Amino acid sequence: MTIGIMGAMPEEVDALLPFLERDRPPVSSGMRTYHTGSLWGHQVVIVHSRMGKVAAATSATHLIVEHEIESLLFTGVAGAISPDVSIGDIVVARSLLQHDLDARPIFPRFEAPLLGRDRFGTLHEETAALEIAARTYLADDHDNAVDSEFDISSPRVHTGLVISGDQFISDPQTLARLRVDIPDALCVEMEGAAVAQVCYEHGAPCLVVRTISDDASHGAEIDFAKFVDRVASHYAVGVTRRYLAGRPASESAPRSAR
Ligand code: ADE
Repeated sequence: MTIGIMGAMPEEVDALLPFLERDRPPVSSGMRTYHTGSLWGHQVVIVHSRMGKVAAATSATHLIVEHEIESLLFTGVAGAISPDVSIGDIVVARSLLQHDLDARPIFPRFEAPLLGRDRFGTLHEETAALEIAARTYLADDHDNAVDSEFDISSPRVHTGLVISGDQFISDPQTLARLRVDIPDALCVEMEGAAVAQVCYEHGAPCLVVRTISDDASHGAEIDFAKFVDRVASHYAVGVTRRYLAGRPASESAPRSAR
């Protein structure tokens, strides 16, 4: 069982690479580099997709078609949408929706044309395992010095709707509109729902985990840049390590990696 691991920011993907026991040299295609090997007992292919839905969808398609991955884990950051969600919290997606997809009047708002759905789900069992990994990371492994630097107190794990669009949200009006239009959205990012749609179309289970880097309002871009620079890679490694370590090891992984 090979797991594809994707991230939109180089900081997060690069932080995983030192732990990868490579079984072949990296392969480049379509301006991306695919890294293959064993990671904490699992056969994986890791790629930096870059930001946005097109970049993410093409990377996911390449992982599924060319690298024959059987499931996909996307790890990254997001802006908070729900007032219940704060910087430093972790959101595990149960479903994902493209908030900028609007083919009205031909199709209902948000619906992916000809697929008859606006939400794409993640695999229930694996989502639960990812949630446990995120909770364990925050409880045990988490760097408290980082918390004080970013004013994070008692970070929490949420599970629910993640929304995606080709837009960085950093103003209160757009945030307010998203809250009204999609009242159950927990956070916003720029890739997850596109990856979830590709996975749905290929019958591949998809998982998305997001750490909250900003409040999607005034100055979000400043918090985002600082968070990605200083914190995001710790979360990406901490949660991914705990998730993979908690899953049955893949048969093709070398024993030394288990
Ligand atoms: N990723 C992280 N923060 C974001 C925001 N505010 N809008 C869109 N994507 C994001």
